[in-house]
Amino acid sequence: MSEPEETSRETLRRACLQAMGIPRYRLRDRVEAEPVAVGEEVPPVEEAPARPQDGAGDAVARMDWQALEAAVAGCRACGLCKTRRNTVFGVGDRSAGLMIVGEAPGAEEDRKGEPFVGRAGMLLDNMLAALGLQRQQVYIANILKCRPPGNRNPSVEETAACAPYLQRQIELVAPRMILAVGGVAAHNLLATEESVGRLRGRAHLLPGGSREVLVTYHPAYLLRRPEEKAKAWADLQLLARRLRG
Ligand code: URA
Repeated sequence: MSEPEETSRETLRRACLQAMGIPRYRLRDRVEAEPVAVGEEVPPVEEAPARPQDGAGDAVARMDWQALEAAVAGCRACGLCKTRRNTVFGVGDRSAGLMIVGEAPGAEEDRKGEPFVGRAGMLLDNMLAALGLQRQQVYIANILKCRPPGNRNPSVEETAACAPYLQRQIELVAPRMILAVGGVAAHNLLATEESVGRLRGRAHLLPGGSREVLVTYHPAYLLRRPEEKAKAWADLQLLARRLRG
């Protein structure tokens, strides 16, 4: 790489770190996933156990975008339909190479009907900028399409009722990579209960499929624990390497 190229790359890197709110000295801290280190070497993909397809999702599994969006908008499959203002379907490029999966809409998302538009969403936008991507260039969706009251954790029944919608979105987008942000997204996508700390830093495969999933911390968690942002930065670098191929 030529000197001017190196300088502009370093300038971009600093701008990204600043946008994510990572002090530069943090990068000297340990940023490995436990127990697998995030290094230049791309670790092998790990396959999650297969999960049985439930019959309820069969109709959804055949839907096109229009039918799917309408099905979500009118969904009454769980009690969250009684308390939501809006369903939050998903946004972005429907043929994106990268799909971001979060947990569930919060208050702001419930009001606007769009995922990740609150404070956590602003940090997510900055994380994407660190990859050189704008929000419109990826596809963003959640495990749940409706807000759990008080932002409580989704119940098993709610995630099961909503799962066919996300499964279909993933099939339709057919992304090269999925980034699961936070434990709820990672646990539901990968059918595991391992902590984000143990799941991050290596690639996983969706159960029964060939799509790659990387895991990182949820932006809302990073807002509460900014000292963990350096690990998220390492995760984004791993993601960038895998996207590059
Ligand atoms: N947190 C999420 O996981 N998803 C959103 O859409 C907003 C906040």
